Amino acid sequence: MTEAPRPLGRRPLVAGNWKMNGLRKDLAEADKICAATAAGEAGDAEIVLCLPATLLAAAAASCEAAGVGLGGQHCHGAPAGPFTGDISAEMLKDAGATYVILGHSERRAGHNEGNASVREKSRAAFRAGLVAIVCVGETRAQREAGDAMAIVGSQLTGSIPGEATPETLVVAYEPVWAIGTGLTPTLKDIADMHRFIRERVEADIPGVGGSIRILYGGSVKPGNAADILSTPNVDGALVGGASLTAKDFMGVAGVFQDRRLAS
Ligand code: PGA
Repeated sequence: MTEAPRPLGRRPLVAGNWKMNGLRKDLAEADKICAATAAGEAGDAEIVLCLPATLLAAAAASCEAAGVGLGGQHCHGAPAGPFTGDISAEMLKDAGATYVILGHSERRAGHNEGNASVREKSRAAFRAGLVAIVCVGETRAQREAGDAMAIVGSQLTGSIPGEATPETLVVAYEPVWAIGTGLTPTLKDIADMHRFIRERVEADIPGVGGSIRILYGGSVKPGNAADILSTPNVDGALVGGASLTAKDFMGVAGVFQDRRLAS
């Protein structure tokens, strides 16, 4: 598949999602990712590490020095209050984050997060000055039933606040059945879904859909990154398992080393 012209402004973005993995000793891998990024190994791509909240403050200085962004993996809708065990967008920002993943399927399934909740948390992210990476994606049963676009469409409309802008919102398409399984959709299926997402966001929020960045996530690894990241309307990747080591993560982000933004 030929590489889609990428409008200026849709800077490629490769975000690592460490999930509930990582102790302080593992910051050595984050430091290696920072060093490689600072050395130009990710080309023009923006690199963001969504670490466990316990590691954000410790990683902040080296990430900032390398031009690597930091992200949280979820937040509460309120800025502060009696919510034991929760974390606010303001706290993530205070710890050094500039991004937050919201509506990941593991949180939608394991923490009962619905679209309205994801929208409320997205508003919290905007309030705190964080970019929201809003995740959407269908289950295997929904894809087999031919409902993938209907599901993703309703997740987009229900989860994204109308005040979102290309500067405050990134969408990540992550088919649930592709996460952590080694399975990926065909490149045509990815292209079709990413075009659908762009059109749907543009219909919901005119002027925004054409410019937002849409990431693909689900079993992205060095061996499939070049093809996936060359697919039309794929502006980057949200990487889980392969983000835990610098070698694998830079094997994905390194796809951008020799690319230039299309003009
Ligand atoms: P994976 O996870 O790359 O391990 O499939 C992606 C994600 O859940 O964001």
